[in-house]
Amino acid sequence: MSTAHERIAVLGAGTMGTGIAALAVGHGVSVTLVEPDTRQRERALERVRTHLRFAQLSGRIPGDETAPVQVTADLQEAVGCSAVVEAVTEDAGLKARVWKQVSGIVAPGTLLVSNTSAVPIDEQAASVERSEDMVGIHFMNPPYMITTTEVVRGPRTSETALVAARELLSVLDRTAIVVGDAPGFVINRILQWMINEAARITEEGIATPENVDALFQGCLGHTTGPLATADLIGLDNVVDSLRVLRERIGDERYEPCAALLAKVEAGHLGRKTGRGFFEYGGKP
Ligand SMILES: NC(=O)c1ccc[n+]([C@@H]2O[C@H](COP(=O)([O-])OP(=O)(O)OC[C@H]3O[C@@H](n4cnc5c(N)ncnc54)[C@H](O)[C@@H]3O)[C@@H](O)[C@H]2O)c1
Repeated sequence: MSTAHERIAVLGAGTMGTGIAALAVGHGVSVTLVEPDTRQRERALERVRTHLRFAQLSGRIPGDETAPVQVTADLQEAVGCSAVVEAVTEDAGLKARVWKQVSGIVAPGTLLVSNTSAVPIDEQAASVERSEDMVGIHFMNPPYMITTTEVVRGPRTSETALVAARELLSVLDRTAIVVGDAPGFVINRILQWMINEAARITEEGIATPENVDALFQGCLGHTTGPLATADLIGLDNVVDSLRVLRERIGDERYEPCAALLAKVEAGHLGRKTGRGFFEYGGKP
């Protein structure tokens, strides 16, 4: 397995895919960004550039030298990359289909990385020819701002894949905290449940979104409260992640609450649409 990461493929040019692409090119790693949706593809370069400008201005990415990013609809372009980072919609069936395709075209020893929020790595590894090449790297949002990543070692992940993942994260200047495999791993098993409860509290009229978040910030010292975090993640992704957790853990507290479902139904997905639990001015 190659640990020299000069070009990686990122699958999905959404919130995370464009953020991961910005992080990589800002650290001198070329990116092939694969996206089937025409509108998402058209916006992708501008989104990567906006992330980069912001990251460079705030000193989160060094200098202004960047590696190239190529946007394509053709998965075949991923061939020859040292790693494939999957950042497609949180849908286990979709991820399984994507991995089956990827696995059939990339060379043995290509590092296979899932940025899933909640789908267990071993479940995804069942769809690839060489399950030992797969590892989870849960980049947080935005990936160029948050320097710690949750690295998931599945039961079949090889030591070689783990070393290659660590090497990639070292090039990207991220810290790796390695954890075991389970639905939602550490962060989302706790965070998604917390977001659901916070939303339920607003639904029950116990507190406003402003007050829920003010309590977490003021009393617990969190930099953002659970509902602003949910808006940053994207409420559609929160609902998808809760469903993945509900199906796999069985606990009904992961069942997405009515307030979340209503916002998704209304298209109020958070920052990316300009409105969620809170309103956001300017360009989403
Ligand atoms: N949003 C967050 O804060 C966050 C944080 C960490 C991890 N994640 C995870 O990262 C993944 C992506 O989340 P997101 O928020 O960027 O979602 P998003 O909806 O913003 O983007 C997903 C993208 O995947 C694309 N896609 C769909 N099918 C595809 C395919 N076959 N090949 C390539 N691309 C395809 C979609 O068109 C879309 O552009 C999910 O698994 C999510 O759970 C999200």
